Amino acid sequence: MTLANRQKESTSSLMPSQTHLKRPWLRYGVLATALIACVVFSFWSPFTSFASSDPEGLEQTVPAAVKEPTAPVPSKRVDSGGAHANAPSDGGYAGVPYAKLSRFLGRLSQLPHYDEDRAARYLNYYGSTRYTDEQIVRLVNTDNDLVLFTDAVPAETDDGILMLVNKYHEMADYEPEDLTDLPAGYASWGALRKEACEAYIAMADAAEADGCPIFCNSPYRSYKMQQGIYNDYVNRHSLELADTYSARPGFSEHQTGLCVDITADGVEYTEFDQSDAFRWMRDHAHEYGYILRYGDGMEYITGYIYEPWHYRYVGVQAAAYIRSHDLTLEEYYYYYVAGGEAPT
Ligand code: DAL
Ligand code: ZN
Repeated sequence: MTLANRQKESTSSLMPSQTHLKRPWLRYGVLATALIACVVFSFWSPFTSFASSDPEGLEQTVPAAVKEPTAPVPSKRVDSGGAHANAPSDGGYAGVPYAKLSRFLGRLSQLPHYDEDRAARYLNYYGSTRYTDEQIVRLVNTDNDLVLFTDAVPAETDDGILMLVNKYHEMADYEPEDLTDLPAGYASWGALRKEACEAYIAMADAAEADGCPIFCNSPYRSYKMQQGIYNDYVNRHSLELADTYSARPGFSEHQTGLCVDITADGVEYTEFDQSDAFRWMRDHAHEYGYILRYGDGMEYITGYIYEPWHYRYVGVQAAAYIRSHDLTLEEYYYYYVAGGEAPT
């Protein structure tokens, strides 16, 4: 190609607008087409009009407040070796049509304790095959979508007998002030906070009177003692497995002096729920202010496997409420202790 030809070609490629200028009707045609396209899109797009994209009556079922999730979407999770038992299974909701997400939130908003400030976090579980709608609300409400241990905040020791200690609430080297020894005959060793100790004695007496004696094998444990226990489990099994049944030091409820591991004569821990003593505890523990802390099927909230032997003192009122409403301590704490709602 000669230089002249090349110049001619490159110049002509810059000239089509001049060709258009010579045909103004073409420009008006393009503008008109664009205008029509915009109008049509505005009726079709799920982003511009709920009513028009709402053949199933979403307008009626989705409260206005949940149409636009306002909560920040948590930053991408960091994988730390199986510690994220509750990670969303489907990789998020990017690309899912807005109408579908709204329908999902609309369903969730019918459930107890739906919190519109957490809408974006519920959305992370859109399409989950692992959790039901109810479980999604319950786990996000109790911060179980956060990164275990890493996102932990200090446990509020001022909450007294209702303080929450779990994989998101850490107590460092806290030591209760009113530790009271459990009398011989009630425990093999150790102490509890005074109120929990008195309640335990009354409970054990009642269980014995009903022919179902219980015995405390592990009450208050210091940070150091828990460190030894946890490290031993990690060495014998693995970190991943130990985290399912043993608390890391600083994260154990035993350090509150408000819980007991109990068993019955001749019964292994793991078989405790087959015993009469367990059945007695199931029916009466709340009357003495104790709750089964790590319930069957509640691992996604409590963070630990079912522990039929581990009971936590929370006082008679809270224990009765938690039991009758089938809640975890996590939920009771978030709603009625930290959250300021009044139990109904
Ligand atoms: N087994 C309970 C979770 C603890 O170690 O505190
Ligand atoms: Zn325990």
